[in-house]
Amino acid sequence: MKNIAIFASGSGSNAENIANYFAGSDYAQVSLIVANNPNAYVLERARKLNIEALTITKAEFMAADTLIAELKSRNIDFIVLAGFLLLVPEKLIEAYPGRIVNIHPALLPKHGGKGMYGDRVHQAVVAAGDTESGITIHLIDADYDKGTTFFQATCPVLPTDTPDDVATKVHALEYKHFPHVIEEILHTLD
Ligand code: GAR
Repeated sequence: MKNIAIFASGSGSNAENIANYFAGSDYAQVSLIVANNPNAYVLERARKLNIEALTITKAEFMAADTLIAELKSRNIDFIVLAGFLLLVPEKLIEAYPGRIVNIHPALLPKHGGKGMYGDRVHQAVVAAGDTESGITIHLIDADYDKGTTFFQATCPVLPTDTPDDVATKVHALEYKHFPHVIEEILHTLD
């Protein structure tokens, strides 16, 4: 059984969707949720899902050593960033090479980089007059949003769409694709 840790900073609707997807699997399971914000709703979701949760400070995350020890002691094989807003430190990337995946709510390389997360991304898409948006699932590199892209899916953006409308379409793509793409990436590591 492969053990997945999900890192999230906010609501955690993707974390819950991924956990539910693997709940019936004998191949992989979500065995840990890590949040960098003690008030993040993802912690409530973890409690309801009966999944262990860890809350860490930004400083602990950046120092990485204690977190890496916590992950290794739980035999975590793979890390999923699902709405996680801190830059992943080099030490963590070295501890999990090719084993950290992120989802970005737009079509990278457009609308990525530091400070581009959640609603800000959808606002930028509408402000740019883009006719499509979507999701990018990519491996994590030392640079924000620059790792190898594994998967993209698109949705149309209509001239009348608000950022909230775009968010709804993008979330639907995330729920549909992220879990099975994680499973595909896991299989490439077998
Ligand atoms: C998701 O749309 C995810 O793509 C985005 O945050 C949202 C989290 O929603 N991530 C980023 O913007 C990272 N740059 P959730 O907490 O409900 O899963």
